[in-house]
Amino acid sequence: MKRLKLDIAKSGIALSAEMKARAQAANALLESGEGAGNDFLGWVHLPSSISDAEIAAIEATAARLRSKADLVICIGIGGSYLGAKAVLEAMSDPFKLLHREQQEPTVVFAGQNISEDYIHALMEASKEHSIAAIVISKSGTTTEPAIAFRLIKAEIEARYGKQEAAQRIVAVTDKARGALKTLATNEGYETFVIPDDVGGRFSVLTPVGLLPLAVAGVDIAALVRGARQMEQATGTDIPFDENPSAIYAATRNALYAEGRKIEILGSYEPRLQYVNEWWKQLYGESEGKQGKGIFPASVTLTADLHSMGQYIQQGERTLFETIISVAEPVAKVVIEADKENLDGLNFLAGKRISEVNRMAELGVQLAHVDGDVPNLRIEIPQIDAESVGALLYFFERACGISGYLLGVNPFDQPGVEAYKKNMFALLDKPGYEEESKAIKARL
Ligand code: PA5
Repeated sequence: MKRLKLDIAKSGIALSAEMKARAQAANALLESGEGAGNDFLGWVHLPSSISDAEIAAIEATAARLRSKADLVICIGIGGSYLGAKAVLEAMSDPFKLLHREQQEPTVVFAGQNISEDYIHALMEASKEHSIAAIVISKSGTTTEPAIAFRLIKAEIEARYGKQEAAQRIVAVTDKARGALKTLATNEGYETFVIPDDVGGRFSVLTPVGLLPLAVAGVDIAALVRGARQMEQATGTDIPFDENPSAIYAATRNALYAEGRKIEILGSYEPRLQYVNEWWKQLYGESEGKQGKGIFPASVTLTADLHSMGQYIQQGERTLFETIISVAEPVAKVVIEADKENLDGLNFLAGKRISEVNRMAELGVQLAHVDGDVPNLRIEIPQIDAESVGALLYFFERACGISGYLLGVNPFDQPGVEAYKKNMFALLDKPGYEEESKAIKARL
């Protein structure tokens, strides 16, 4: 088993016996289902409950889409988008589009914004490709993906006819409720179910994440295997000192209690940039409520040392930093000696780029600790499907524990409704007549 390691030695925190006990109790609540939001705990044992038959069914549908299309448009927002996007970016060659021969279909995303220019550019580019779509919405009523799907559905139907469109469109939604479910039934789309008890931001290991990833050629069985190993490594039978999720949750809560209100998640591997985005949703939506919660921010290093580095080193001291460190790169590139040495870099000759990256990481860690930025370090062995699966579950488990430690329901998101009400009122949606008048008077 490849191991994820957590190092809190430079966090400045010595966890009290009381905090450890509270974290153990919070972890137990995730198993017993006696905590807040207990109807949304389906993710806890999700990795160990996914059967080979379910993986095979997802892979079979992915194979059909792959055989039909070289561009698969994945439509969704929030938890119905970020998990697939995060893993896909982590697992993809960043320069894939520059290779003339494409092995895998290109998976792109829509419905995660309402930008006219974005959707127009996508529709134009799609004209050069054979297309298929995966439309994902748990509620089946979310405005952003619904708008994008209306356009993409019309394009697919216009090109291939209704019957073939039903072979090229797959819906991932609630088993019974919502407009998308009704539409999928009426149109005869194949449908995958998002379990009732798994919230959007915890749904990456359901077909929400697994189907687009399988289409893109990601080894989803390995992803689930990694998550399953982490499920075991963070169970209630594991002592606190051996449970990385419990230690991470306890440490960040201890830091929060000391006034560290912002956590910056960073990595020295740009492929993990969207893991940061997925993590921000996971923690932001789970903990930011009742006037409480650590604000999740992120950086990609070393790039952001040349932008955010100044603030981190010397700005307001309310930050702490969590670094996802990758032990081994997949590739090997060595810096060569140069006869002229005009850039003065011959002292690096013979070294791998990763060694320089590692020294940057260690040097920055010490500089930030010296600058009073507590530092936590999560090390994964490599960026591969198994390690990424373990990392995702590690964060999910820690998020549940952390939310309970904070004293909130980590599984609801009442605050996300406020903007929707205003938007519908401004757009004169039927049923919002009173709100329309009131809000327009305020503009
Ligand atoms: O975590 C969440 O619940 C949200 O971010 C949802 O995933 C997001 O709003 C999309 O919702 P839906 O899948 O219902 O379209």
